[in-house]
Amino acid sequence: MLRVLWSVARGPADRRASSRRAFPYPTVDQVIAQRGEQLAGKIVVDITNPLNFETFDSLTVPADSSAAAEIAAKLPESRVLKAFNTTFAGTLAAGTVGQLTTTVLVAGDDADAKATLSDVISAAGLKVIDAGALKRAREMEALGFLQISLAAAEKVSWTGGFGVVA
Ligand SMILES: NC(=O)c1ccc[n+]([C@@H]2O[C@H](COP(=O)([O-])OP(=O)(O)OC[C@H]3O[C@@H](n4cnc5c(N)ncnc54)[C@H](OP(=O)(O)O)[C@@H]3O)[C@@H](O)[C@H]2O)c1
Repeated sequence: MLRVLWSVARGPADRRASSRRAFPYPTVDQVIAQRGEQLAGKIVVDITNPLNFETFDSLTVPADSSAAAEIAAKLPESRVLKAFNTTFAGTLAAGTVGQLTTTVLVAGDDADAKATLSDVISAAGLKVIDAGALKRAREMEALGFLQISLAAAEKVSWTGGFGVVA
């Protein structure tokens, strides 16, 4: 069963509405405290970029770790993946980055979980690359941070960003 972390943000009454939402990294602890037990055995997809929004100059996780690693440590019974953080929302919706098909990087330690998520991404018409073990989330978050920094500085568009030529 694939359960994307943002789909369990609130109670059953608004789950349908919240299932299309993502939430910022600082909210993750609250969600895990409220819903962590329900995520046991489930695939959890961490899409966050844990930016320090006060300085906009660093990430809030230790340099030798990642948001995904922190989440995995808090959800030891879940199958945690990192994905989508390097693709701006506009490129997921459009399916393209400039002339290129949008590519979603997926990192994780559970091969079956990665295959399940990859099938979902491919079915949506996007390309997917297995980025390796969950340890690669650190590099993916660095890439996401750089891309956000460039967009915030108006050096790239929020509907653009990094593309991949395989
Ligand atoms: N936007 C992108 O292009 C993009 C791309 C890749 C990754 N991401 C990552 O996705 C995450 C969210 O980004 P975003 O752009 O979607 O942010 P956003 O537009 O600011 O949306 C944040 C959402 O989180 C909800 N939220 C906040 N606290 C919550 C809580 N305690 N329980 C349930 N929902 C809560 C908010 O709901 P309310 O409005 O009701 O407060 C809002 O809908 C970030 O970590 C970001 O780095 C974003």
